[in-house]
Amino acid sequence: MTGERDRWAELTGGQAGEEYSRRFARLAESGHDVHGEATFCAELLEAPARVLDAGCGTGRIAIRLAELGHECVGVDVDPSMLAVARRDAPAQEWLLGDLAHLDTLGPKPDFDLVLAAGNVIPLLAPGTEPAVVRQLAAALRPGGLLVTGMGLDAAHLPLSEPPLTLREFDHWCAEAGLTLRQRYATWSGDPYEDGCGYAVSVHSRPTT
Ligand SMILES: C[S@@+](CC[C@H](N)C(=O)[O-])C[C@H]1O[C@@H](n2cnc3c(N)ncnc32)[C@H](O)[C@@H]1O
Repeated sequence: MTGERDRWAELTGGQAGEEYSRRFARLAESGHDVHGEATFCAELLEAPARVLDAGCGTGRIAIRLAELGHECVGVDVDPSMLAVARRDAPAQEWLLGDLAHLDTLGPKPDFDLVLAAGNVIPLLAPGTEPAVVRQLAAALRPGGLLVTGMGLDAAHLPLSEPPLTLREFDHWCAEAGLTLRQRYATWSGDPYEDGCGYAVSVHSRPTT
């Protein structure tokens, strides 16, 4: 590991939980569909499935997936984000810890789907991305799916420039034994084309 803080902590100072939660509440109140990620994942699953929300933040997606009948575990390293999740859904399982050490945090493996939405991958600590991808892949059951959503340019990231390319990400996934199954430009399933500023990717673990 690099010893560097994750980019989210650098940006927020670890105090963003309540404001992040209010931002999504305001979006929902103004009529926006704030459940795009959960809807996308639910279409890939048969309930009840086991889902790991990696970098779950305030738990907004894991909470929605639980409402849809799935068993969700959320993991996040930011206590201010996880505090909101624990307050809003105390009966769900929330683990505080670093995805680079997921295997030490105690979730039962063999998840049907692991989700890293909301720019989790670009917001990891610099240099830890391949290790995190390995950990996420290892948490999947054979045939399980890794679903990620990430910005590829400054317009789709809370960063001045993208810290990684899709090519690098696909390479880390391939090294971890995953195969790219589908790629979209949005959570609504718009087609992905080279140059898109956002990518929703579905990788799978081999069945054997
Ligand atoms: C922009 S938030 C997205 C939260 C949530 N996935 C969503 O879409 O609402 C990015 C999250 O990634 C988490 N994160 C970044 N690096 C992490 C790491 N190494 N382990 C666990 N969580 C991490 C941050 O703490 C933060 O909550």
